[in-house]
Amino acid sequence: MKLSENAIKVLEKRYLSKDENGNLLEDVEGMFRRVAKEIASADEKYTHKAGLVEIEEQFYEMMTSLEFLPNSPTLMNAGRPLGQLSACFVLPVEDTMEGIFETIKNAALIHKSGGGTGFSFSRLRPKGSAVNSTGGVASGPISFMKVFNAATEAVKQGGTRRGANMGILRVDHPDILEFISCKKDNSEITNFNISVGITEDFMKAVEYNLEYELIDPKTKKPVGKLNAKQVFDIIVEMAWKNGEPGIIFLDRLNRDNVTPELGEIESTNPCGEQPLLPYEACNLGSVNLYSMLDAEKNSLDFDKLGLTVKKAVHFLDNVIEVNKYPLKEIDEMTRGTRKIGLGVMGWADILCALGIPYDSQRAIELAGTVMEFIQKNAQKASEELARQKGVFPYYEQSIYAKKGIRIRNATTTTIAPTGTLSLIAGVSSGIEPVFAISYIRNVMDNNELIEVNPVFKKAALEGNFYSDELMKKIAESGTLKHIEEIPEEVRKVFVTAHDVRPEWHVKMQAAFQKYTDNAVSKTVNLSHEATTDDVREVFTFAYRAQCKGVTIYRDGSRDMQVLNIGKVQ
Ligand code: CDP
Repeated sequence: MKLSENAIKVLEKRYLSKDENGNLLEDVEGMFRRVAKEIASADEKYTHKAGLVEIEEQFYEMMTSLEFLPNSPTLMNAGRPLGQLSACFVLPVEDTMEGIFETIKNAALIHKSGGGTGFSFSRLRPKGSAVNSTGGVASGPISFMKVFNAATEAVKQGGTRRGANMGILRVDHPDILEFISCKKDNSEITNFNISVGITEDFMKAVEYNLEYELIDPKTKKPVGKLNAKQVFDIIVEMAWKNGEPGIIFLDRLNRDNVTPELGEIESTNPCGEQPLLPYEACNLGSVNLYSMLDAEKNSLDFDKLGLTVKKAVHFLDNVIEVNKYPLKEIDEMTRGTRKIGLGVMGWADILCALGIPYDSQRAIELAGTVMEFIQKNAQKASEELARQKGVFPYYEQSIYAKKGIRIRNATTTTIAPTGTLSLIAGVSSGIEPVFAISYIRNVMDNNELIEVNPVFKKAALEGNFYSDELMKKIAESGTLKHIEEIPEEVRKVFVTAHDVRPEWHVKMQAAFQKYTDNAVSKTVNLSHEATTDDVREVFTFAYRAQCKGVTIYRDGSRDMQVLNIGKVQ
């Protein structure tokens, strides 16, 4: 297998089985074999032994060729005692002491296994409301979020990876102003991403500069009013300050809720790409688009992509079967709707290889073509599975029953961030532009190593302009923008996240969203000099472009920034 040193390091640290002394019990191929075998075993009921071996081989090859990878918990836990394979969960937060602490316990169990949790705190009574049983006053959603945060912090060390949460509050909750500013200080509530749940009514009120009502979730009565535009401006200012909160459009999540009779969608998973019902989980997987490049024809191999999508849907559907869910309620919901989320990674890399600039109309059009193709093929594959294995158990309560479409999975497509998966596959993450063309990494003994984007390296070698000095020069800023030694056409194509103007980020997100059942993980990067007006424009544009949510990040606006241009630790 062709894996980078970095990928091997990550896999050894967190993914490969070890004994109690920390000695590795498997190598990377061994891990993929373990996963392929376990996931194929879901077909025991449907096929004979030879068929099972064939399926296992298909899965094994698809992963070892790095054409498809399932989300991290599947790689970590399949075929091992924990057996929890999903990355995404949403848990309900009820307005009772028992309910709140029950959910904290359940979230801890999920984090331990590498899953992330999302919650809406909108049902909690506002700060200062009466508590009947004690005669005291309620401390409100934000103070409880801090308890969730502390629990996550405590579980961090023992788990497979750092627990991640999404916290959502409806914009019409009486404590909304406190929520919007609760991460003003970056060292607070660090284990949460936060998003304001925006409604269409609210957006209309912003447009017409009107007041809107705050509703007490307990009594369902209006308890106050705020000017929508002013609230929007505070959201914008906070996001400008350090990237939080993001916003999600609740009505849109529910417009696309395929099982409305089962309940309302009130939250997503931590990175925002997977809206779920309370107690629902979802397993994700991503096709590596860069590996779909037909180098000879210099085009995307759609036949190969179609086949990979089909196998990937089969794989992800099997995951639901063999998954060990941490709670009875989650088991029931997740097997009931059988949601899966197939997405992509390596998008920017294949654009570069094809010579198409990320910030161009051609790229946006290709995004639509590719994702429409993936969505269609994923649905077709799920319909085929339904013919063989049956529709999902809650099918009768779904929109598909009304349309007469017999399908096995209530949703099939989601664009995940692929933070670790893309590192393992050695490609650009999700649908994000390349972060830096080259950068300096500190390795042991204070030695510096220059990492160069592999697609660029290939182009530079072919174009005869590769040199170590040049790569070092590029690493200083990460971008090719001002490097005149490099041909102009190359500079146009190899653009980085910071070279791409915000509207192109949003256009790309919207292009993928159009053909994605669930949602799209995307960060709109802004330069350090961007103003609050720029942020407002991005939010408004994303709303008009039919995105389901939007997250921005202004360069240098957090003390702790995971990726730094120039130097990465
Ligand atoms: O690449 P990988 O499969 O590790 O994950 P990702 O695509 O970056 O993230 C997908 C989802 O995994 C996130 O939206 C979270 O629900 C979950 N996740 C988590 O719980 N904790 C993390 N540290 C990273 C991801």
